[in-house]
Amino acid sequence: MDIDSLLEDNRANWDDRAAIHVASGYGIEELVADPTAISDVVSQDRDRLGDLSGADVIHLQCHLGTDTVSLARLGARRVVGLDFSGESLANARRIAGRCDAEVEFAQADVYDARQAVSGDFDLVYTGVGALCWLPQVRPWARTVASLLRPGGRFLIREGHPIQATIVDDISDGLRIEYPYFEQVEPLTWTQTESYVGPVGGAPAISHPTCHEWTHGIGEVVTALIDAGLVIDSLEEFDHMRWNAWGDAMVADADGYRLADHPERVPLEYVLTAHRPQDR
Ligand SMILES: C[S@@+](CC[C@H](N)C(=O)[O-])C[C@H]1O[C@@H](n2cnc3c(N)ncnc32)[C@H](O)[C@@H]1O
Repeated sequence: MDIDSLLEDNRANWDDRAAIHVASGYGIEELVADPTAISDVVSQDRDRLGDLSGADVIHLQCHLGTDTVSLARLGARRVVGLDFSGESLANARRIAGRCDAEVEFAQADVYDARQAVSGDFDLVYTGVGALCWLPQVRPWARTVASLLRPGGRFLIREGHPIQATIVDDISDGLRIEYPYFEQVEPLTWTQTESYVGPVGGAPAISHPTCHEWTHGIGEVVTALIDAGLVIDSLEEFDHMRWNAWGDAMVADADGYRLADHPERVPLEYVLTAHRPQDR
């Protein structure tokens, strides 16, 4: 199957997921009800993001825009959310409107983001289930760099590729089953339920086939350096935003961590970088 067909499967799958995620809650009503509220994901990085007053910000793979609205509420001057799913963006526009947040939304494949959006940015933000949908990390890194003005910053919070290598049922231990390094061939799944679990009254996923790729930490770091960015920090965490392993995980303010010896395996990472002034 060619890459365009794989990505088209993913786009149709994400169009289906949008309505399910809206129906699941997704923190939307909390953002609407309180004009000072920001999403849990953005809250985790508030100190790392720093003062966004007057900044131009782009959020790649913004989905329903809950994190995008949150970035706007941190004082950014211009905020753009980009995604290839029209249904995600239709909902994102509605949600941003209900939140009275000024956000532009652009529909494009992330690899085409530079052509799809005008202007340069002080911050490129992405993550939490974004990179796994992209076949190659190097053109993505070049896209990120091309969107930044000199001195501009990049922040990604993402699922750790080590976590992605481990079997779905860990009752017999943390066994490695899936690739750590980027492969040409995707992992192809058929899922009639999204990661939010069953949602009463929501439409079914009618395009259940989707394709994912893993990108090792070294591959991500090297791609960003080769694209001209300077890496400022790389943190790894024993917790993640979604529950990958059911009863084997416990929930707390950070998300989910292994109930038993969480120090064994990294589940999420945050990387920050910047485009140097003198490029
Ligand atoms: C799990 S969401 C990540 C956003 C955010 N963490 C959230 O949960 O709201 C993944 C998003 O990536 C988008 N996406 C996947 N592949 C893409 C691509 N090649 N170009 C642009 N968007 C893509 C999907 O449409 C989806 O909205």
